Amino acid sequence: MLKELVLKNRSYRGYDKSVKMSREDLLDLVDLARLSNSSMNRQALKFHIATDEKEVEEIQKLTGWARRLPELNLPYPGTEPVAFIIICVDTSIGSKAAFQRDVGLTAEVMLLGAVEKGYGGCMLGTFKRGELIKLLNLPDNLDPDLVVAFGKPDEKIVLTEVGEDGNTSYYRDEEGKTHYVPKYKLEDILI
Ligand SMILES: Cc1cc2nc3c(=O)[nH]c(=O)nc-3n(C[C@H](O)[C@H](O)[C@H](O)COP(=O)(O)O)c2cc1C
Repeated sequence: MLKELVLKNRSYRGYDKSVKMSREDLLDLVDLARLSNSSMNRQALKFHIATDEKEVEEIQKLTGWARRLPELNLPYPGTEPVAFIIICVDTSIGSKAAFQRDVGLTAEVMLLGAVEKGYGGCMLGTFKRGELIKLLNLPDNLDPDLVVAFGKPDEKIVLTEVGEDGNTSYYRDEEGKTHYVPKYKLEDILI
């Protein structure tokens, strides 16, 4: 069951925009983050939920997708995400560096929750931080560390094995539709 969710939990960069996500759907995901493990149990993360169409559009403009396939300009027009959650570190609780692991694990649990609900998403570490702070009108103590996109996935992603050349770059077929993601074999990552 968990393995099934993990396998389905790919980084989707194309969505069916006719399928919206409600604020309640996103609240359920943040609630999973709230209940997750937390370094020293300091619970230093705060979450901005964006489901409003105009706001989602504005956030989308500040994000960078698939830097390894820059020529494709993903997501294709009309397949952008329908929601975002922005994970911020509350620096009045501790430094951003101290809580980056927390950011990663909460992003993953929210993505798994989305997959369980029939949606999917993509973590976006590439975004225009200063402009995002302005757009969301974030107070000084909230430092955005990761943007997570959500929607109903509308693309095919296939896991493959990393070959002899050790190349881990993801790639697409000629039409740019099927997305391939090489993963190491289990024995390759054991020490
Ligand atoms: C911390 C983190 C930040 C990421 N940032 C971006 C990003 O800025 N843009 C993007 O398109 N994908 C981003 N990704 C997605 C990765 O490219 C993706 O996880 C990787 O290609 C493997 O694909 P998979 O998630 O389907 O296994 C990020 C992933 C992680 C874990």
